[in-house]
Amino acid sequence: MTVTMTQTGRWPPTADLGTCRLRRLTPADSVWGGAALAALDPWRTLGSTAAGLGAYLTAEDPALHRFVVEARAVDNGVGGGESVEVDVAGAVAVAVGGNPVGIICLRDPWLRGPFIELLAVMLPGQGYGATVLAWAAAHAGANLWSTVSTFNHGARNFYRRIGFVEVVEMEGLVRPGFDDILLRRRNSSGGFRPPKAP
Ligand SMILES: CC(C)(COP(=O)(O)OP(=O)(O)OC[C@H]1O[C@@H](n2cnc3c(N)ncnc32)[C@H](O)[C@@H]1OP(=O)(O)O)[C@@H](O)C(=O)NCCC(=O)NCCS
Repeated sequence: MTVTMTQTGRWPPTADLGTCRLRRLTPADSVWGGAALAALDPWRTLGSTAAGLGAYLTAEDPALHRFVVEARAVDNGVGGGESVEVDVAGAVAVAVGGNPVGIICLRDPWLRGPFIELLAVMLPGQGYGATVLAWAAAHAGANLWSTVSTFNHGARNFYRRIGFVEVVEMEGLVRPGFDDILLRRRNSSGGFRPPKAP
């Protein structure tokens, strides 16, 4: 079966964000992507499988704009500017022109602004998450939305630091016994800048 990923609207096919680059996720990314996500919280705790997540990444869904975040090629002092492979949760990550360090999926159109349906950074604490969200906010218009599991305190802090407000708690949204929180960032709130390159 051939999966065609129709892409429309305001989201470009690639974006250079300085410390990282975005490119459209392809069906070939679903194997390492599903495995990497299944090994990470919140999906690990929620019991999501690599196969299920891989299917989500490749499902025909024209309103879902899926990107791989690639680290900028590292100068390893040998060839200059060569790529270094990142082992993403034990999965073999084959990337042309960069190393996958994250995935972002944006649902757009959504509610007077796009909805971040999935955000994962496999190399946390390097500024990639904030950089990617600055890019999403710049394209978002009036609102940028997301959800976070109540138990995911790290991500709740992350979203809070960059201007998202917790709107409402939604009981058992993804799985019975687990609650999620709807998050909203109003672009008029301003003051959100991507981190400076080291
Ligand atoms: C949450 C996540 C997207 C953050 O991305 P990241 O690249 O690690 O975040 P950054 O390095 O850009 O950090 C941006 C800011 O958030 C803060 N932050 C990031 N993770 C944090 C955590 N776990 N606890 C507290 N603060 C955190 C950073 O300190 C930084 O603040 P500063 O600019 O004041 O220093 C990433 O850790 C991740 O993918 N986690 C697993 C999946 C997940 O929880 N996804 C989101 C909800 S579904």
